[in-house]
Amino acid sequence: MIKLIATFCLLALFDFTNADIQADRLYELLKTKKSRNSPVSNTWSVSDEATNEYSPVYIASQDGLSELDKIVTLPGQPSGVDFNQYSGYVTVNPNAGRALFYYFVESPTDSSTKPLVLWLNGGPGCSSMIGAMAELGPFRINSDGKSLFKNDYAWSNVANMLFLESPAGVGFSYSNTTSDYDRSGDKNTADDAYIFILNWLERFPQYKTRDFYITGESYAGHYVPQLAYTILLNNKKTNQTVVNLKGIAIGNAWIDDETSQEGMYDYWWTHAVNSDATHAAILKYCDFANETSSEMCYKVTDKAWDEMGDIDIYNLYAPICLNTGLKNASGTGSINVFDPCWQYILETYLNDTVVQKALHVKPTSWDLCSGDTDARVPITASRYSINTLNLPIETAWRPWYLNKEVGGYLEAYKGLLLITVRGAGHTVPSYQPQRALTLFSSFLGGVLPPPS
Ligand SMILES: *[C@@H]1O[C@H](CO)[C@@H](O)[C@H](O)[C@H]1NC(C)=O
Ligand SMILES: *[C@@H]1O[C@H](CO)[C@@H](O)[C@H](O)[C@H]1NC(C)=O
Ligand SMILES: *[C@@H]1O[C@H](CO)[C@@H](O)[C@H](O)[C@H]1NC(C)=O
Ligand SMILES: *[C@@H]1O[C@H](CO)[C@@H](O)[C@H](O)[C@H]1NC(C)=O
Ligand SMILES: *[C@@H]1O[C@H](CO)[C@@H](O)[C@H](O)[C@H]1NC(C)=O
Repeated sequence: MIKLIATFCLLALFDFTNADIQADRLYELLKTKKSRNSPVSNTWSVSDEATNEYSPVYIASQDGLSELDKIVTLPGQPSGVDFNQYSGYVTVNPNAGRALFYYFVESPTDSSTKPLVLWLNGGPGCSSMIGAMAELGPFRINSDGKSLFKNDYAWSNVANMLFLESPAGVGFSYSNTTSDYDRSGDKNTADDAYIFILNWLERFPQYKTRDFYITGESYAGHYVPQLAYTILLNNKKTNQTVVNLKGIAIGNAWIDDETSQEGMYDYWWTHAVNSDATHAAILKYCDFANETSSEMCYKVTDKAWDEMGDIDIYNLYAPICLNTGLKNASGTGSINVFDPCWQYILETYLNDTVVQKALHVKPTSWDLCSGDTDARVPITASRYSINTLNLPIETAWRPWYLNKEVGGYLEAYKGLLLITVRGAGHTVPSYQPQRALTLFSSFLGGVLPPPS
């Protein structure tokens, strides 16, 4: 019998000042959820405790597959690449023909002792290749959409990073049973991701007992804790791989609809995006605790979105993409300057047939996000969500430092850390790569970043 041991060391909710591309899809989702005759089913619910009976999930032999998944070279990659990259599909349901795509980057140094870290982007429905190629992966794409440059602050400097496109229907992940796409929801997403992990660990058995962390951002505020819960529950099953889960970290997490919406509109008002009148009307007409929103609430929240104007909802003070055409110059990218047109650049690169061949995927029209929603998840929302937990404070609110500058602020609760990154947009590592790497290293090391 395997005992359930809660091994979480930290829950870091690294903040950002602004909004989120993945949360893009959230506003419409929330509207749908709150409307009468909501089509959204299969939402998350805490299931009964698993028994210790032998009730295994689907696991297939993965012999020899990791070698086939090894990436020889990514088109346009710079010279001097000194680490292993792998990518391919892992089947999670052979009857439906459902397979999830992953991209795996080993650390250039001591990969055999460094932890294994899963990264999930949000949406719902956005690809984790956003994280891999526009946030924390080893490369960023030049503005030509063809060539890559090195990210000096890649998280693979300190961990082996596994990027998973989830659920099926997102990015390169697919199902041969297209009706699966209508059935995707939080519960199936977590179940498939769990089956993915067990099979992936068969493919890369050297990682089976490695310290394992789950990280992500935005709507992954649902995916990450739900997958962690699923793992801990299934770890109790007899004769099944025990996943050595050590902790989870979520950036700009959409955790709870009520506090997240309240926090978002309060943040907009306090950052001079909305008028006093509109904010007051939201407080008056919207009851975010109510599953059913009133017509007046829709009206005033639509007004709030209108008032915002044409800004980058992912980073309030960042420039917007004014010219979606690609630039000719290659080799000009800088890790310290984030191209506001990154979405078009990423779609161009990953939609290229040569790139897709190098990644071992079948020809696919690759999209950033499958769907059409919109929202954002500011620090105010994270604070409201955490406050509902009423956790005792272990380290009071204080700044943390990097290179003699304030990198952000933190507050440590029992079992959970809230940490902000100063000057970051929703995709924290895109805008503050060095601060994000400092935060991530501290998290893995189980320490707080320095107080001076
Ligand atoms: C989906 O169908 C294609 C074509 O029949 C097949 O090659 C592929 O293996 C199937 N995928 C899965 C995960 O079974
Ligand atoms: C579980 O594993 C043990 C040891 O390998 C084996 O003896 C036993 O038959 C397995 N049980 C089932 C139900 O497969
Ligand atoms: C929730 O909102 C609906 C629509 O505005 C309203 O009819 C209902 O009374 C509200 N329920 C509660 C518990 O406030
Ligand atoms: C890129 O090059 C093409 C032809 O080689 C030229 O027509 C175009 O104006 C150039 N675009 C930019 C932005 O320099
Ligand atoms: C991706 O490629 C397909 C086929 O080559 C094309 O139809 C589609 O418009 C492309 N999508 C993007 C976002 O470039």
